Amino acid sequence: MTTDSTVLDGLDFPTSGLAVPDDVADLLFRQARTVGAFTPEEVTDEQLAAVYDLVRWGPTALNTVPLRLLVVRTPEARARLAAHMNESNRERVLAAPVSLVLAADPGFHAHLPVLAPHMAALADALEPQPEQREQMARTSALLQVGYLIVGLRAAGLDVGPMSGMDAHGIDAEFFAESGWRSLLVVNVGRRDGVGTPHPRAARLDYDQVARTV
Ligand SMILES: Cc1cc2nc3c(=O)[nH]c(=O)nc-3n(C[C@H](O)[C@H](O)[C@H](O)COP(=O)(O)O)c2cc1C
Repeated sequence: MTTDSTVLDGLDFPTSGLAVPDDVADLLFRQARTVGAFTPEEVTDEQLAAVYDLVRWGPTALNTVPLRLLVVRTPEARARLAAHMNESNRERVLAAPVSLVLAADPGFHAHLPVLAPHMAALADALEPQPEQREQMARTSALLQVGYLIVGLRAAGLDVGPMSGMDAHGIDAEFFAESGWRSLLVVNVGRRDGVGTPHPRAARLDYDQVARTV
């Protein structure tokens, strides 16, 4: 193993131990920033579908695949969504090429006969347990949110995730029939210049976050 490192934004990144080329790691992580300012370039449904087709293979508990996406594109839909965002996030939703409301589906169990055919009885067992389903959906959908963010970057797109919002308001506005539970709003597009006025902040080191027993 080498001890090479690369310096970006004044931060030192070790480059050893990767199975993907360094420029891929840069695109997905080191150079990727949380973007607030996008060019007007359109993000198509085909692009979004291609990213989903890739990231759906990321693991979820019992293969529940509970992430759901609401693609917010029209001016009317944007205004409905922006009304439920925190003040500081509102303008970003109105200005982004497209916004995704990422949500968890507590009704995921309806798909289990296809997604987990080896556990035939599970869908019926979960039916009378809405709270457990909601917790299960949330945990795995949040994992899928992470896969999706990295997948969008792999497609050459930039993202601006935002949890500063009235989630219950969004659920009432958009998900009254489906029962989906909103987790995060993510603006998607191509960054305008650096895409953010904020300098890159540090991250914690492995030694700070890991304990070996
Ligand atoms: C779950 C989540 C919620 C966030 N919520 C907001 C938000 O409401 N408003 C905002 O401006 N940025 C929000 N961010 C952006 C973070 O502040 C940003 O990703 C972090 O500071 C790292 O920035 P960098 O990717 O440019 O290094 C959120 C990010 C995540 C992942």
